[in-house]
Amino acid sequence: TDHENIVVSRDGRVATITLNRPKALNALNHALMTEFVAAAEELDADPEVGCIVVTGSQKAFAAGADIKEMLEQSYADVYVKDWFSAWDRFGALRTPTIAAVSGYALGGGCEVAMMCDIIVAAESAKFGQPEINLGVLPGMGGSQRLTRAVGKAKAMDLILTGRQIGAEEAERSGLVARVVPTEELLDQVGEIASGIAEKSLPAVYAAKEAVQVALESTLTEGIRFERRTFMAAFAFEDRTEGMQAFSEKRAPQFRHR
Ligand code: HXC
Repeated sequence: TDHENIVVSRDGRVATITLNRPKALNALNHALMTEFVAAAEELDADPEVGCIVVTGSQKAFAAGADIKEMLEQSYADVYVKDWFSAWDRFGALRTPTIAAVSGYALGGGCEVAMMCDIIVAAESAKFGQPEINLGVLPGMGGSQRLTRAVGKAKAMDLILTGRQIGAEEAERSGLVARVVPTEELLDQVGEIASGIAEKSLPAVYAAKEAVQVALESTLTEGIRFERRTFMAAFAFEDRTEGMQAFSEKRAPQFRHR
């Protein structure tokens, strides 16, 4: 690819975006953000892509927003440029996203991981929101997504102390879905991703949307949304195939429509 800060690869219906700024432990500068979000949106628009994996290096998923770049910005600069707002578009993709985290996922790195639908951590992973040590606070959704993921007690602890937690504590807290041996991270995430990518795409989009609605609505509204969306799924070709295949005791052949 012709990217400077990321590498995009495809394996069947799974696409992988690898953060690739090793000099700065994948610190998320403006150029990286621009490339990353554009690549992610392009993959999201492609119906041949059924799952997007986001990963970094063994040492760092990403060590945060680029501190040296932020140092030079004034309030007017960040306000006018709407600093970090492009990341919201990544959080709004319809294609399922999996963060495969090895090493540091700090600050903006932890926040990008939390924008993904599923976080799988290597045993080596370290998560934290150290912004407090820089005299700021999380700025890419961390105070909101971390609190929803782990609850007030742990979110306050992490955001006010800036301490790092390991993979095991992250899993225990509900931040991470699974922990795997470090050397198996990409293989295991690849298996999860290709499993999701083979399912019916419209069902996957709808299921993801329903879970997102749970975070943004009351229980009654959310259940109403789920029921109506479930009923709408009866219009999918793939649901006829899925139920037919079950009745005939064979594997479904989804056409992703
Ligand atoms: C810019 C960074 C960086 C970052 C690391 N580097 N993190 N550059 N922004 N966030 C650079 C270092 O300056 C160094 O470059 C090189 O990467 C290697 O890092 P080292 O510190 O030498 O590595 P190590 O000693 O192994 O320590 C790893 C580390 C440490 C513990 C992860 O790098 C670290 O604490 N980084 C900052 C973590 C952080 O505070 N993240 C939150 C950022 S704020 P040179 O050129 O010196 O070799 C944020 C907020 C979002 O994300 C919104 C806020 C408004």
